[in-house]
This record gives sequence, structure tokens and C-alpha cells, in this order.
Amino acid sequence: MPFNLKSYNTFGLDVEAAYGYVIHDFAMLGMVFKKIKETGLPFIVLGEGSDVLFTENFNGIVLINRLLGYEFAEDANFHFVKLQAGENFDHAIRTCLSRGIYGLENLALIPGTAGAAPVQNIGAYGSSFSDFCRYVEVLDLENNKLSRIKAEDCEFGYRTSIFKKPENIGKYIITAVELRIPKKWKPNLNYASLEGLSGAGAADIYQRISDIRKSKLPDPHVIGNAGSFFKNPTVDGDFYKKLVSEYENVPGYFTEGEGMVKLAAGWLIEKAGCKGLRMGNAGTYDKQSLIVVNHGGATPVEVVNAARHVRSQVLDKFGIELVPEVRIFGRDGECAL
Ligand code: FAD
Ligand code: EPU
Repeated sequence: MPFNLKSYNTFGLDVEAAYGYVIHDFAMLGMVFKKIKETGLPFIVLGEGSDVLFTENFNGIVLINRLLGYEFAEDANFHFVKLQAGENFDHAIRTCLSRGIYGLENLALIPGTAGAAPVQNIGAYGSSFSDFCRYVEVLDLENNKLSRIKAEDCEFGYRTSIFKKPENIGKYIITAVELRIPKKWKPNLNYASLEGLSGAGAADIYQRISDIRKSKLPDPHVIGNAGSFFKNPTVDGDFYKKLVSEYENVPGYFTEGEGMVKLAAGWLIEKAGCKGLRMGNAGTYDKQSLIVVNHGGATPVEVVNAARHVRSQVLDKFGIELVPEVRIFGRDGECAL
């Protein structure tokens, strides 16, 4: 019986999987894995579908992770918060704030589940999931056992981790994460738009970041999207200098690697003439061009065409090939844009 994915992807695309299961407990997970082994079909684990694009119907099995639960512990210096993978991450931040556990507030309002947070090492406003990760608990499908991968072994980077490596896709299902949050709270106000918040408490920072995000990013319940469609690209210092000689106020941040600079993909897209793009029912958001949107009723092909158009316009104008952040799935599994 086909499983409709429209309410399980924040682009709101009307696509189907051959089979789909909402997983509430480990017994069900075991049952579905038996089916995966029996059928030999490909499978995808989804949380809230806020970082995925289905380009067509998926001829496989989708598991919607809804494993729920919190555990709190502490020692003299740290709070330890274990979240089952299906918990909403923003809800976890608010729960922590209400219990006087501060530190996660810069990650306010990022959609999605705790289990997906390590996959691309979610980040915003100067903080990343990796700043707080103690370990990721996984079901290792090669031996059918639960194990813990320590944060230092997760190879976290900008929008990446071991969970995105091709050899690990289909190997691990993330079942829980444990956060380690220092009891001694220090506000993280390094991000430019947080200036002026000195003296603010964690809840005020959470509120300010939520307000900024609401002013810039479309609400997926209203306009389908999956956040930043592409990653911010890194270029060498000479390339950056050339850009600065041609344009005023080029946003760029010095980053790992001698003289390397991370550019803002949204700025490149705007300068390539694609801000507020409209191609059929898809396009880019008029307040933030890095967000590819479903204006309403878009087909997967329309979204793909808009994203490809953006990529080719930036390539023509700047010689930079943008790389999708969003995970793209076709008929048989993950694929390129
Ligand atoms: P899904 O989209 O369901 O899955 C994402 C990927 O993770 C898929 O490849 C999936 O197979 C895999 N996966 C999911 N769960 C598991 C699991 N349990 N085990 C193994 N693999 C799994 N991201 C940021 O980093 N920073 C932001 O500021 C940000 N802002 C956003 C704003 C908006 C409006 C939107 C729509 C998205 C934004 N994102 C942002 C992207 C998104 O919120 C994150 O990538 C989030 O972690 C996705 O969570 P999810 O549960 O929806 O994952
Ligand atoms: N900009 C433009 N035009 C645009 C969009 C942006 O000129 O249309 C400029 C802005 O003025 C600013 C710069 O580009 O100078 C950066 O823009 P912004 O602050 O909005 O951040 P971003 O680089 O576009 C990144 C993350 C977001 C995260 C924010 C805040 C990536 C790919 N995106 O966006 O993450 O919330 O920083 O930290 O790294 C996501 O991953 O889905 C996501 C939303």
C-alpha cells in the first residue's frame, strides 16, 4: 500500500513511498527491518523531513522516526540530556530552558528531530550541535546492536558528519543523542546580528534568535521549503579579494584552511539575479534567496528545475558550483540534483 509523504516533507511535495511506517518503539523498528531484509528494497529514515527533497515517488520503504523520551542527569560541572531520536529538537531546547539548563538557545527554532541533528551537524548563530554532543546512539544494522559513537568519532564539520558518508548510509539508524551542557553558562554572542544583547539571559537570546529567524525564513507550514537549499561555499583568499574589488560589502568569513573564506550563497544567488525567483510554482524566497520554495502546488520537477536554474546562474556569473545542503532522493534512493 503506497505511503503518502506530503505531510512528511516540509517542501510539501505530493510524493509516495512504496511502503511507510511510523516507528514508535524498538519492537516496531525490528519488525520493519525484517521486512527490509525480506524485500531487499531500499529504505530511508526520516525525522520531520525538513532537509529532504523527493524528486519523484520513492520505490522503497520510509521509516518515520517517532522514538520519544528524555532523560536528565548531571554531575558537578555538566547537565546530561539524552533525547530519543524522534524528539523535536527545538522542543528540547525550550524544555531545557524551562529547567534552567542554558546553552542551546542559539540553535532556536531549527526544525527537525534530535536524531537528524548529528547527521548534518545542525548549526546557526554561532553554535553547532557538535558543541553539545556527548555521543550518538545508533542501531548498527550490520550486527543489529545498539552502540554509542562518541562525539569525537563523529567527524563533525560544517553541515557534515560520519553519518553523511556514503559507506555509512543504510548502516546506522540514529536512535538517540546525549547532550553534555556545561552548568557554567556563557552567552554566545559572537554572531554579528546578536550585537546589543550583552547582559541578556538565555531565554532572551532564544527569543531574539527566533524573531530574526521568523523575519528571514519562510514557515514551512505556509510556504514549503527545506531551509538553506545549498551550503555556503568556501573560496581561496585571492578569489575573495577579486570579489571585493568588484562588489561592495561582500559577506565573507575567514575559515579553516590558510586564507580560505566562506562566502554567503544567498548573496551569490541574489547577485546572480535569482532572489525571489519564480519558475512555475517553485522559486526562491524573496527575503532570503538561499531558500528554494514551493509557492504552492509545485511538482517535484518544478522544485528541481528552480534549484538547477539557481545553481547554473551562480556558476555562470561567479564560476562557483553550489553544493546542495538538502538531501535529494529519487526513485531508488539518494541522488544528485
Ligand atoms: P529529515 O529531513 O527527516 O532527514 C534529514 C537527513 O537525515 C536524511 O538524509 C535522513 O535520512 C537522515 N536522518 C533523519 N533521521 C535519521 C535517523 N534517526 N537516523 C539516521 N538518519 C536520519 N539546518 C541547520 O543546520 N541550521 C538551520 O538554521 C536550519 N534552518 C532551517 C530552517 C527551515 C525553515 C527549514 C525547513 C530547515 C532548516 N534547517 C536548518 C534544516 C533542517 O532543519 C535540519 O537539517 C534538521 O536536522 C532536519 O531534521 P529532520 O528531522 O527534519 O530530518
Ligand atoms: N544575503 C544576501 N542576500 C540573500 C540572502 C543573504 O545578500 O538573499 C547575505 C546576508 O545579508 C548576510 C549573508 O548573506 O550578509 C548571510 O545570510 P544569513 O545571515 O541569512 O545566513 P546564511 O549564510 O544564508 C546560514 C545557514 C543557516 C543559518 C544561518 C544563521 C547555511 C547554508 N545556512 O545562512 O542555516 O540559520 O546561517 O546562522 O550555512 C540551513 O542550514 O538550512 C539554515 C537555514
